[in-house]
Amino acid sequence: MSGAGEAKPMTARRSGPLRGAATIPGDKSVSHRALILGALSVGETRIEGLLEGGDVLDTAAAMRAFGAEVERVGPGAWRVHGVGVGGFAEPDDVIDCGNSGTGVRLIMGAMATTPIAATFTGDASLRLRPMGRVTRPLSLFGAAAHGRSDGRLPLTVIGAADPAPIEYRSPVASAQVKSAVLLAGLNAPGITTLIESEPTRDHTERMLRGFGAEVETEVTAAGRYIRLVGQPELRPASLTVPRDPSSAAFPVAAALIVEGSDVLVPGIGLNPTRAGLYATLREMGADLTFENERAEGGEPVADLRARFSPDLKGVETPPARAASMIDEFPILSVVAAFADGRTVMRGVKELRVKESDRIDAMARGLEAMGVRVEETEDSLTVHGLGAGGVPGGGVAAARLDHRIAMAFLCLGLGARDGASVDDASPIDTSFPGFGALMAGLGARFDAATAAA
Ligand code: S3P
Repeated sequence: MSGAGEAKPMTARRSGPLRGAATIPGDKSVSHRALILGALSVGETRIEGLLEGGDVLDTAAAMRAFGAEVERVGPGAWRVHGVGVGGFAEPDDVIDCGNSGTGVRLIMGAMATTPIAATFTGDASLRLRPMGRVTRPLSLFGAAAHGRSDGRLPLTVIGAADPAPIEYRSPVASAQVKSAVLLAGLNAPGITTLIESEPTRDHTERMLRGFGAEVETEVTAAGRYIRLVGQPELRPASLTVPRDPSSAAFPVAAALIVEGSDVLVPGIGLNPTRAGLYATLREMGADLTFENERAEGGEPVADLRARFSPDLKGVETPPARAASMIDEFPILSVVAAFADGRTVMRGVKELRVKESDRIDAMARGLEAMGVRVEETEDSLTVHGLGAGGVPGGGVAAARLDHRIAMAFLCLGLGARDGASVDDASPIDTSFPGFGALMAGLGARFDAATAAA
């Protein structure tokens, strides 16, 4: 959905203290999965707190195209009448997943073991992203993918008529690849096994169990073996989507770098496979507390409180932590600019194939804001300038990437001369209401005079 309209330049100005409570929208990863598993179960699934951002709305539209009834019954409240495992109908038009790698890759998995064809496309960002990492394992089930020679979208997947279960070791640490394989395994008889070397977000495994599938995870020295028993009858579920820790990261980070701030973000999902940023911020000396730790909808949640932290120190993030904070490196790079000393992010080459090449996007944007950086294929180093030390005043290119746009707007709130982004419109893919939420805390955003 992003990238089709006009660019919306935006400027963030150095702001006074950010204060108050921020209600963060639902988790994007969990929202996609709730719609897809709802569509694959028989009967009515009820979802509360669904993220109503562009990416998830595209997945909702796709589930309708495959034959499920998907209905919005109130703000964040949705009902899905599923068609059952193997029950997807052949869509009569192209499936446009907009900006969403998660949407397209999970949906390809969900349809790949049903004998139907579907053609997938997306926006200019998604059409640059690699799809072979998903179509290769899907071909082992008996599916075929036809399209561009470089394996990118648009492409057509022909689902397997007689799918065979597979055992597959994922060559990349990717929850999208893992999830595509498990969703495809649902309609293959017997046991499908996905092996991952590094743990990645486990929302699919948790939610599959919630819908009645048999999934077990065995951790051995050779990796994490995730085994799914195929052809279950998925039972519809009632679920509440936790608030997105990857979205919460933006107001949290802004509070850490803007003098005098004290911000509470209630009810944030803190699944350990997603919480790497928060561990890193604490190592940097961030004044960050977790209150009211509890479980909601099968996921751990807590209220986060972040206060201005004038003595942040640079740190090194190890490759083993990368997967648990893979979407948070843009905002970590911003916090790092306000820390004393260097922050080195290692083992992050996957950032080069996100909504943009996030190493390059952050490096060029930070340079435009007066911050020194170094990059390799697999790392990013930010030379911090300390609290109040970031000049800012530049324009960062958002490159159709919501997290790049939000990261630089947060930087501008603490930088001497603010910061602009050339296009804030992609933010709606994951965090609708970001501007109003931040303004409610005291952020000075200005849409009119941006992008000098
Ligand atoms: C996601 C997995 C991650 C992450 C993305 C959401 C998911 O991608 O970057 O924003 O919901 O499974 P990879 O699996 O490609 O690392």
